[in-house]
Amino acid sequence: MGGGEVVSEKLAARALGKRFDAGGRTVEALADVSFDVAAGEFVAIVGASGCGKSTLLRIIAGLESATTGEVLVDGRGVVGPDRDRAMVFQDYSLYPWLTVLDNIRFSLNLRVNRSAKSGGAPGVAVPSIAGSGVAGQGGEERALLLLELMGLEKVRNAHPHQLSGGMRQRVAIARALLAKPQLLLMDEPFGALDAQTREVMHDLILHILALEQRTILFVTHDVEEAVYLADRVIVLAPGPGHVDSIWRITLPPALERTQDLKLSPQFLAIESDILGRIRATSGLQSDLEALRRLTAREMIL
Ligand SMILES: Nc1ncnc2c1ncn2[C@@H]1O[C@H](COP(=O)(O)OP(=O)(O)OP(=O)(O)O)[C@@H](O)[C@H]1O
Ligand SMILES: [Mg+2]
Repeated sequence: MGGGEVVSEKLAARALGKRFDAGGRTVEALADVSFDVAAGEFVAIVGASGCGKSTLLRIIAGLESATTGEVLVDGRGVVGPDRDRAMVFQDYSLYPWLTVLDNIRFSLNLRVNRSAKSGGAPGVAVPSIAGSGVAGQGGEERALLLLELMGLEKVRNAHPHQLSGGMRQRVAIARALLAKPQLLLMDEPFGALDAQTREVMHDLILHILALEQRTILFVTHDVEEAVYLADRVIVLAPGPGHVDSIWRITLPPALERTQDLKLSPQFLAIESDILGRIRATSGLQSDLEALRRLTAREMIL
């Protein structure tokens, strides 16, 4: 309370509402969405298709403005895109004419004018990614380190069309991490990958995040993925999009999670409870009932 309020959360969504007016039609995409994300936390957002997940993420990224409410990062209002927030999309969004390494270090070129620091001490080993700089030589070292961590060294000079989907998404994640964003926003980043590649990506991302200690907001359709990766899962319900429930995942810490965990009774119980909430709030049940009625009638006719 009062002037010296302590800000503990990295991200705060405060009573966010979004209305789209397009072609005489109004869509209430979000209403009164509020939640906090603590520094270093991994929060997943799940919910039925069309319930406003991407819209919410785009507002937090500053790519879309909210109709009501506000987004705070470290207690400061978000007014547009900034380097403190990086976004990874489902469709890789790489530059097709650049090599893997050039895609990763692309933002270095944008940063040069902003920072006068260059030509740092030569020959200094980088102990961890979190300890290296971004602009100038530090940035170049960090790009190479991320390339290595993501297992992309062998394809550093390849172009995106020569890569598999999993590799392309690893490039996109490396590029997003390069500038050390405070917040990593991911919109179904593994949605286009097959099940096996997804599993590899899950373990990779948990490992990288344990090293990097970023704050993550991660949108997915896949409840198993959400439970495996996240500290908390937010269920967004449609009509208009609002927070239905927030689940704390009390599984072992990220680095101790292995694929076997997905078969444990505790994991399956949380997954099933969350799926139950999505089904209950999505209108899917009434869609299915309508379909059943329709099929029954067709059979009579
Ligand atoms: N630019 C836009 N103009 C008009 N309506 C929009 C726009 N963007 C999104 N919407 C509408 O807002 C609602 C939420 O869309 P959004 O893409 O955020 O849902 P989503 O939860 O990400 O869906 P999915 O799971 O299918 O990706 C939908 O009804 C959609 O049609
Ligand atoms: Mg979406």
